[in-house]
Amino acid sequence: MKKNILCIGAGYVGGPTMAVIADRCPDCKVTVVDINSERIAAWNSDNLPIFEPGLDEVVKRRRGKNLFYSTDIAGGIKAADIIFVSVNTPTKTFGAGAGKAADLQYLEKTARSIVEYADSDKIVVEKSTLPVRTAQAMSRILQSNTKNLNFPVLSNPEFLAEGTAISDLENPDRVLIGGMETPEGQAALNELVELYAQWVPRERIITTNLWSSELSKLVANALLAQRISSINSISALCEKTEANVYEVAAAAGRDSRIGPKFLHASIGFGGSCFKKDILNLVYLCEYYGLPEVAAYWEQVVKMNDFQARRFVQNMIGAMFNTVSAKKIAIFGFAFKANTGDTRESPACAVCHQLLEERAELSIYDPKALENAKIDLANAQGRINYCTSPYEAAKGAHAIAIMTEWNEFKELDYQRIFDNMEKPAFIFDGRNIVDHQYLYELGFNVYPIGKKSLVHV
Ligand code: NAD
Ligand code: UGA
Repeated sequence: MKKNILCIGAGYVGGPTMAVIADRCPDCKVTVVDINSERIAAWNSDNLPIFEPGLDEVVKRRRGKNLFYSTDIAGGIKAADIIFVSVNTPTKTFGAGAGKAADLQYLEKTARSIVEYADSDKIVVEKSTLPVRTAQAMSRILQSNTKNLNFPVLSNPEFLAEGTAISDLENPDRVLIGGMETPEGQAALNELVELYAQWVPRERIITTNLWSSELSKLVANALLAQRISSINSISALCEKTEANVYEVAAAAGRDSRIGPKFLHASIGFGGSCFKKDILNLVYLCEYYGLPEVAAYWEQVVKMNDFQARRFVQNMIGAMFNTVSAKKIAIFGFAFKANTGDTRESPACAVCHQLLEERAELSIYDPKALENAKIDLANAQGRINYCTSPYEAAKGAHAIAIMTEWNEFKELDYQRIFDNMEKPAFIFDGRNIVDHQYLYELGFNVYPIGKKSLVHV
């Protein structure tokens, strides 16, 4: 094998990213290690720990040939030429910066493991999303080794989106690599460029200084989330004025400077990263004495929280100002379609608010039910987890669509309507069903950013 590649962290990023590297670089040996032995066992089984379209096929193709999942972190470090660090970097929940700053304890532990177990030079690649200038701290810890070893640090943030991770990795818009502006740093950077160049066209491989690379990742996520909050803020105005947010987004998005993507009004963005990365950006701005910049970005998160609250308030208002003891069917719990991931899912916030109002929930999701059970384990109130949307909607007063799963577009809504309490309500938090058709079936229909269709 030409190179030994190690990834520390076998999560949503480490697992799929390394599978694609192994697939595209058959002359490299790729090992993914994790402290979580259950997760590693799942990566080595037929039931992978995450659902991602196309992932099973890639893993099956390479596992046991040049792709290995293991708990042997020390052995992996010793053997590696290049080490990707892809551990979680959640929002800090304690001490200074709690609620905003990134918790870097897992990252620091990996740096210390590298110092402890390495017995030769290694390139260390930050794959996790990190505050700008983290590489400086990382480098200092790594260079504190007493074995005279060198560990050039690179930043190579990941831009994949869940649900499309494999195609994003196989055909990325760009690969970003930042390195120290020293001969050693540039040599390491060139080595990583050559690895990606095995399948990514060179013009899509961008190289920058370390700090630009680290910051670009936070900025990319902040800009994407900002578009969603912007259009969601307009959805509220549309509901007051009978403008249609889809027509508005399509009209504005036709300007090539604006573009049509990421202007889909919704219940709000979820996922493990948008909120945490913006809060991290907010914290950095505050830390560097830029309160106006911090407040500007914080508003993106506040608008997102407002959108979920507004959705629940609309539900309660429409249902005669009470949902107490009413059964409400929740269609979808994942933060987006084609994933089982529920981290920061707006569905979770909506469910908690409905439970506070003493509604009874019946939740259906094709891939995320097990995660939903974990997320709502401590919630007070009556919750049923259903194996079909028909079961969830039976006897319900209302349906709330939380995730844009394709199957919700194709259900037999006549059958669903017939089995619901009347008047029957549908609140479409993703605007994915045919509102006029449902209205004609007899539903009272409440889309986002569009006039509601109500039988009087
Ligand atoms: P995750 O929680 O799914 O996976 C992280 C893994 O790291 C866990 O399995 C954990 O057990 C392991 N880990 C933690 N400390 C360890 C240690 N000391 N040694 C070995 N393993 C350790 O997280 P994720 O979603 O894969 O995200 C990882 C990073 O990538 C984060 O910084 C995130 O912001 C970033 N990111 C995530 C996505 C995404 O879509 N999820 C996309 C781009 C970037
Ligand atoms: C996002 C980014 O798209 C990735 O580039 C980035 O790598 C990743 O975060 C990360 O750093 O974790 P992801 O969160 O997996 O990826 O999924 P997105 O497709 O970005 O969707 C995020 C949320 O926004 C979802 O809840 C989605 O339903 C919502 N969304 C998206 C909208 O409400 N409207 C839109 O127009 C687009």
